[in-house]
Amino acid sequence: MTARTKVAVLISGRGSNMEALVRAAYAADCPFEVSLVLANRPDAGGLATAAEAGIEALCVDQKPFGKDREAHERAIDAALRARGVQVIALAGYMRILTPFLVDAWQGRMLNIHPSLLPKFPGLDTHARALAAGEAEAGCTVHLVTAGVDEGPVLGQARVPILPGDDEHALSQRVLEQEHRLYAATLADFVRTLD
Ligand code: GRF
Repeated sequence: MTARTKVAVLISGRGSNMEALVRAAYAADCPFEVSLVLANRPDAGGLATAAEAGIEALCVDQKPFGKDREAHERAIDAALRARGVQVIALAGYMRILTPFLVDAWQGRMLNIHPSLLPKFPGLDTHARALAAGEAEAGCTVHLVTAGVDEGPVLGQARVPILPGDDEHALSQRVLEQEHRLYAATLADFVRTLD
């Protein structure tokens, strides 16, 4: 059996997308394994979930680095390389990256965003989609480049916006698709790597 691609999932919060990737990797024919879950804050709920699943859960706390985001990223990068990580999957990682990490992992770092990019990059995507009177919403998996939520799109999933939808209802409908889309797109992506 060929070795599976080692993926690190970077989180800041509950980590439901991370869990979806972990679950997908249980399948015998999944081409990736989640070898590390890394958070930038100790209170990220997903750290405990990962540890319970038997995955190394590491916090590289941003706090001691203060405003020096690059120094924080250098510590993250060292932790990833020490473990032989090959691909990064950002999953609710709520810190804007500096060019250091983006360049170091160019072509090997993915992100999931809860909108149909290029529509609604940034925060509060569901509220903005509702306010704009959109007929549909969705999510996007893309490669990470210097511009926030701007990299090449690898996959998208669409959901309808229904009468009476509020932010919560819409976010739940999109989240279900995020979990499916991220696992499938990441698998397709790692199959294209050498
Ligand atoms: C998801 O909606 C993801 O698209 C966005 O942040 C949220 C993270 O949720 N980038 P979770 O931590 O994966 O549950």
